[in-house]
This record gives sequence, structure tokens and C-alpha cells, in this order.
Amino acid sequence: MRLKNRVAVVTGAARGIGLACARRFAEDGARVVLSDVNAEGLDEAVAQLAGEGHDVAAFVADVSVVEEIQKLVDFAGAKFGSIDIMLNNAGIALTQDFLTITEADFDTVMAINLRGAFFGVQAAAKAMIAQGRGGVIINMSSINSRMANPSVATYAISKGGLNQVTGTAAVALAPHGIRVVGIGPGTIATEMLKMGFLTNEAQGKMILSRTPAGRLGEASEVAAVASFLASDDASYMTGQTLYPDGGRMILNYVMPEPEQ
Ligand SMILES: NC(=O)c1ccc[n+]([C@@H]2O[C@H](COP(=O)([O-])OP(=O)(O)OC[C@H]3O[C@@H](n4cnc5c(N)ncnc54)[C@H](O)[C@@H]3O)[C@@H](O)[C@H]2O)c1
Repeated sequence: MRLKNRVAVVTGAARGIGLACARRFAEDGARVVLSDVNAEGLDEAVAQLAGEGHDVAAFVADVSVVEEIQKLVDFAGAKFGSIDIMLNNAGIALTQDFLTITEADFDTVMAINLRGAFFGVQAAAKAMIAQGRGGVIINMSSINSRMANPSVATYAISKGGLNQVTGTAAVALAPHGIRVVGIGPGTIATEMLKMGFLTNEAQGKMILSRTPAGRLGEASEVAAVASFLASDDASYMTGQTLYPDGGRMILNYVMPEPEQ
């Protein structure tokens, strides 16, 4: 129960990594506001967690609209009295050829993954400063923030920028007792993966050949890192992004020996 008496907000929480993090925060004792642009999925997710006995609430918000982020943070304060943990998790990925990327594609991805997270940090930070007892803000990055994969260029660019949101915010907000940290998962078995990154068998084999752990990650394994970072166990960590990736990044381009 290391998050007892904390209030957490999670964006993109209707499914996947966001839902797993919301569940883990609740299991660790937090009251959680789950938010998503998908109202129907959100209702199902909140009903599921409430049915498990957790203190949760739903708020529909599109993180690409700055006013909606502000309304979400205000809702958490009105519903549960504070905001102690903000997880900017909502994100999308477009898989496309580098030369076909349009202005609209670029803007769509940046508006959600980068601008949405930046204003999520800012809105949460203002509320936390007003409360006067610090807080933790977590940004959901990716190994793609550090790898130049041109088939998901807009995604990689947005996540690279997001690491700088984490870094600059950590320095700006440290005097207020607010820690800002990131999580950069490797390949995690979610809907996003099935629709974007893992569209055929060859791609799957390629991803696993570069994953020393030899398997995809589970959303709950990302949530475990989020729980640690949100808790006082990580009280001296700020500005960094941790990578639960089954060894993918450290392997880099050193390919394993082929099987004999
Ligand atoms: N799955 C992976 O392998 C992986 C790896 C690294 C990082 N990530 C990151 O983790 C986060 C969650 O990914 P996931 O795999 O669970 O994806 P997902 O597609 O399963 O879930 C994303 C959720 O975000 C919501 N969302 C999309 N646009 C939104 C918007 N404008 N406002 C509010 N909510 C919105 C969706 O409705 C959905 O419920 C993303 O930021 C993603 O980039 C995922």
C-alpha cells in the first residue's frame, strides 16, 4: 500500500498500459481518476476496477485539447481533494513511410504525444504547487525516444521530445518538491502494438530477435515501474527515464549469434 492516501490521474487509461498502471496504483492504495478520449472503453475500465473494490472515477478528456487537460486536473481535485501523481500516458503511433508523412500526420502525433504530455505536466504541476506538498509526474515515453526507427518517425520524434519535457520539467519543478520522471517501455503486448508495430509475423520475429528477454513485455511489468517511480521508494529520482524493455536498448545493434 505504498501509494495510500495519494490521488493519481492516468491519461489513456481505457486499456493497455494506462489501464494496467491505473489498476496497480489502485492496488497500491491510491484513489485514481482514469481518463481517456474513448468514453465507452473508459466506462468499462472504471466499472471493472470499481468492481474489484477500488476507489476510482472516470473523466473523458482528449489530451490534444489543452482546456480538457485542465478540466481533468480540476476534476481530480474536486472528486478526491488533491492530485499527487500525474501519469501522462495517452499516446498514438502512426506506422508509415518517412516520405509520405503529411503535415496533418505530424501535427496529430505531436498534439497527443508531446503537447498533450507537456500541458499535462504543467496543469498537474500548478495544482501540486497550490497544494504545497509536492508530487510526482510520470511521462510514458518509449525506447523509440532513443532509437531512430524511420517507419514510426513521428512517434520517435514525439517521444524524443517527451524525454526533454521530463528533463526540463524535473529541473523547473524540483524547488517545489515535484519529481518528474519517464518510463520508456520496449515492446509491450497491447492493442497499439498489434495495430501499429506488430502487423505481420516477420515484424514479430524481427522485434523478438532484438529482445534479449526473448518475449514481449506485459503491461503489468510497466505498471510495476510506474508504481515504484510514483512512490517514496524513488524519492531521490527525478529527470530520468527508466526503460523496462527486456534488454532491447542495451543490446543495441549487437545481434546475437545465429543458432547453429
Ligand atoms: N505498447 C507498447 O509496446 C509501448 C511501448 C512503448 C511505449 N508505449 C507507450 O505507452 C502508452 C500507452 O500505449 P498502449 O500500448 O497502452 O496503447 P493503446 O493504444 O492500447 O492505449 C492508448 C490509450 O490512449 C487513448 N488515447 C489515444 N489518443 C488519446 C487522446 N487524444 N486523449 C486521451 N486518450 C487518448 C486511447 O483511446 C487508448 O485507450 C503510449 O504513450 C505509448 O506510446 C507503448
